[in-house]
Amino acid sequence: MNLHPLLVHLPIGTLLLAVLFQYISEIERYRLLKPALPWLFGTGAVSAILSCASGWWLASGGDYDADTLYWHRWLGILTAITATGCFFFPFKSLSALTALALVCAGHYGGALTHGSDYLTLKPDAGTKRPADPGQAEIYKDIARVILSEKCVSCHGSGKQKGGLRLDNPADILRGGDSGAVILSGQPDQSELIRRCYLPEGHEEHMPPKGKPALTAAELEILQWWISQGTPVNMKVQEANPAPPIRKLIDQWCNNGREKAPEISIVPDENPVAASPGLILRLKQAGVSVTPVSSASHWLRVSLVNLPQPADSVFILLTEISPQLLTLDLGRCSISASSFGMLNSFTQLTSLSLAGTNITDGQMSVLSAMKQLRVLNLSGTSISAAGLQKLTSLRNLRTVYLDRTGINPADWPAIPGARFDSGGYELPVLPSDTTRLTGAEK
Ligand code: HEC
Repeated sequence: MNLHPLLVHLPIGTLLLAVLFQYISEIERYRLLKPALPWLFGTGAVSAILSCASGWWLASGGDYDADTLYWHRWLGILTAITATGCFFFPFKSLSALTALALVCAGHYGGALTHGSDYLTLKPDAGTKRPADPGQAEIYKDIARVILSEKCVSCHGSGKQKGGLRLDNPADILRGGDSGAVILSGQPDQSELIRRCYLPEGHEEHMPPKGKPALTAAELEILQWWISQGTPVNMKVQEANPAPPIRKLIDQWCNNGREKAPEISIVPDENPVAASPGLILRLKQAGVSVTPVSSASHWLRVSLVNLPQPADSVFILLTEISPQLLTLDLGRCSISASSFGMLNSFTQLTSLSLAGTNITDGQMSVLSAMKQLRVLNLSGTSISAAGLQKLTSLRNLRTVYLDRTGINPADWPAIPGARFDSGGYELPVLPSDTTRLTGAEK
């Protein structure tokens, strides 16, 4: 950790105060302030020197804009020298020069950390979400806004970490120190996308730990932009995105920056209906099968009445897998061969395995469930290693892990997913108990 950003505020405060005191102590009423001057200039000079040293070290490891850094560095050093001078020879002209150098050094320092336009930039400038998604330009109104919200603080005009700028199309396509970060048409091969999908703790994950990550929708949109050939002047409508992408774009545009787009459990498309004969056989086997709504062919299935379902039940279930949307296997004892059949349930959006005998090894069958949004693993013996098998499930939104004892530090990083370890306890209110103490006789 570098203390420079913290340290620099000390000379700014003390030296400005010293100069102010020096000038007003000329006034008879404030003569008393004079003895404070050596103290203030002294502290200011020492902290300015420490700031220079820590700053020099910080600059050597960072990728800052060279011109801005040049001025910041030398004005900072000038400040340290003149402040030391003021300690020994408190001339007013020297202290005026100190204040001037200090203010200018501070200004360039601000430009280094916040970008060169930090004084004039309004928080919302240029990052407004477009009102009409169809007419929005994919780069200017969407991709640029996403990158400027999440990446440009380190990859912009002030700093170019990794030699990469992400605030204009030419630099985005040029790439960084390790070459191109976008392969137009091939999002899967693009370094920029790869880094965003790494687990949060990974040292190459972007943005680095502690900075707000891209939401799942933002990542999908950026990937789609790259898959279209990274166009710079194309409108959303002209690119004619597939309905799911168009939906994400619409939601992103409407949602402002706080809320992540809701992804519904029930897809828009209705599958063909499952054969009534099959449903009947499932019901006869004790399986609860209901449509998710009266107009829908999607099915909700629960094995709540079958604590030890036979393999034959799972074979029947694989036959309704095109319609199987939610499946509750809670507290079932499931055979290894039945577990193997789970990988044909590719349409599932919600699955409960709470209290089942699933093992870490068997977790890999879940990776076929690309649509899975909600997964309940409460009360299972899954460990952190088993959870890692979920990382390919990019649609996951909620994973329940009550009574698994998995350390939150070991939760895998899945963009947009929330892990819930349960264990909620309600505080006992005094009134809860006094009511129950029994009537007094
Ligand atoms: C807090 C600062 C910070 C933020 C915010 C940030 N990055 Fe980075 N980025 C870095 C640093 C530091 C490096 C260089 C170290 C490394 O290669 O991991 C880097 C390197 C990269 C590289 C590799 C460049 C190369 O050629 O080596 C890519 C790609 C990248 N970042 C993409 C992004 C994207 C996309 C975002 C926004 C989602 C982002 N970064 C946000 C600090 C940041």
